This record gives sequence, structure tokens and C-alpha cells, in this order.
Amino acid sequence: MKDLSVQNVSMVYELPRGGSVQALQDVSFDLEAGRLLTLLGPSGCGKTTLLNIIAGFLAPTGGAVTLGGDPITGPGQERGMVFQQGALFEWQNVAQNVAFGPRMNHRKKSETKDLVDGLLNTVGLTGFGDKAIYELSGGMQQRVALARCLANEPEVILMDEPLGALDALTREKMQGLILKLWKETGKTIILVTHSVEEALFLGDKLFVMAPRPGRIEQAYELPFAEVGLTSDPRKLKASAEFIDKREELLSMIWGMEEQIMGHEGGMS
Ligand SMILES: Nc1ncnc2c1ncn2[C@@H]1O[C@H](COP(=O)(O)OP(=O)(O)OP(=O)(O)O)[C@@H](O)[C@H]1O
Ligand SMILES: [Mg+2]
Repeated sequence: MKDLSVQNVSMVYELPRGGSVQALQDVSFDLEAGRLLTLLGPSGCGKTTLLNIIAGFLAPTGGAVTLGGDPITGPGQERGMVFQQGALFEWQNVAQNVAFGPRMNHRKKSETKDLVDGLLNTVGLTGFGDKAIYELSGGMQQRVALARCLANEPEVILMDEPLGALDALTREKMQGLILKLWKETGKTIILVTHSVEEALFLGDKLFVMAPRPGRIEQAYELPFAEVGLTSDPRKLKASAEFIDKREELLSMIWGMEEQIMGHEGGMS
């Protein structure tokens, strides 16, 4: 199990027509292995940029990220990404999608088949292996995306609004699945969401990020993910403690949005 360390990470995008955007400034945190961190914040505060840097898709313009003490210099199997939608191979069936990583690693066919069957079972898609991707609902497709990510046996799973395209009911079910996977696999998860409720419910640690420049504004340690594993999520979300935190976060984010609007107004 490897701890993740993000030290003074900055990201400046140079714009093709001149000028630049400071997407992240001096972001630092340590994340012990096995934590579930949620990232919440207004549009443009650098959430996706941070995930892409940890994934190794982007090199930061300042600072460094290490996993288990090793610097991250590019994409690697120990860090898997799950996107909002559309990242599955439409021309392959469900089982082939899940088997993609192991096949690339030349795992034995029989081994891969067992692995895929096991993972489809884990995500609640037993018997769906030979279905085409287009035959599946959005929620089912995200289950496939999760299984495909898990097939690579990553240490860290990065999720960029993985449930953002789902209807409310499916979304709640999938939140339960993510908690279950987190507990069963003990993996480190970093999940970006626009939903305050989701960030609170899933995160055992939560960062509220702020824009211009993108940074971590507030960090919380939260009890709800642990509790949500064993108790009724609906009741938990209706509890006074949960609602208090939700309102606190909502007003913080509203404050930021207002600042942004004011800033934009001031520029015109
Ligand atoms: N490739 C790029 N080139 C230039 N600017 C970029 C690029 N990618 C992101 N940005 C800018 O960097 C800032 C952070 O973007 P990022 O996509 O990380 O934000 P985000 O928090 O994920 O937003 P959202 O919630 O809308 O997904 C934004 O101002 C964005 O316009
Ligand atoms: Mg984003």
C-alpha cells in the first residue's frame, strides 16, 4: 500500500494566443493509502487538472507528486482513471472492455476470464459479459468502467465526476457501490464531484477547492463514509450532523461563486 504525496504542485497553462492561466497554485497534501478523498469546488478551480497530474497525463509546471515515495513522471498502471462517461470501447462487449488491461499485460486467457467474471460480479453485472456497450444504461456503463479500472489492480483510483451523468436514483445506488468497493478493496480513491451531498457522503476526507488560482481552501475529515457502509444512506443524509455540514459547504461555495461573478462583472 502506497501513500500519495502532492508537494507544492502548480500548473500554469500557456494560452495559444498569449497569456496564461494559473490552474493550480502551490497545492500540497499527503494522502495515506486507503483513504477516500473527495474534491469539491466551483467550475475551473483545477479539479480535473489535479487528477490529470496525479494520473501522470500532465506534468505540473511546479512541484512534484510521489506515490510510495516514487516520483510520478507519466501514466502508470498503479493509477487508474474513471471518467464521467464515454470512455468504454463501443466495439467491444462488456467482458472485452473489462479484460482490456489484463490482455495488454498478456495475462493468461483462463486467468483473465476468472478475473473478469469476478469483477463483473463485484460491480453487480454478473451475466452481462457478452452484452454490447450500447445495450447498457448509463449506470451499467459506469459499472463496467469501474470493473475495467479495477482489472488493472491500481493502487489509486482517480474518478472525475464518475456519477455526474446519472439520474438521481442510479446515482445513489452507485454511491453505495463505490463505498462498498472502497471498503472491500482498501484502495485509495480520489473522486471529483460537483455534488456537495456526494462529496460529504463519500469522502472520508474532503477538500473544498477555490479558483483563481486553483487551490485547496478547506480540508475536512468526515465520518459519513464509514457510517454509510453499514447504515441507511437516506437516514444518514437526513441527519442533523450531515445537513449542518452540507449547509456549511454550500454557503462556502456560494460565496466563491459570488466572488467569481463579481470579478467577471468587474472586468467588463
Ligand atoms: N488545456 C488547457 N489549456 C488552457 N487552460 C486550461 C486547460 N485545461 C484547463 N484549463 C483552465 O484551467 C482552469 C482549471 O481547469 P480544470 O478543468 O482543471 O477545472 P475543473 O475544476 O475540473 O472545472 P470543472 O468543474 O468545470 O470540470 C480553468 O480556468 C480552465 O479554463
Ligand atoms: Mg473538471
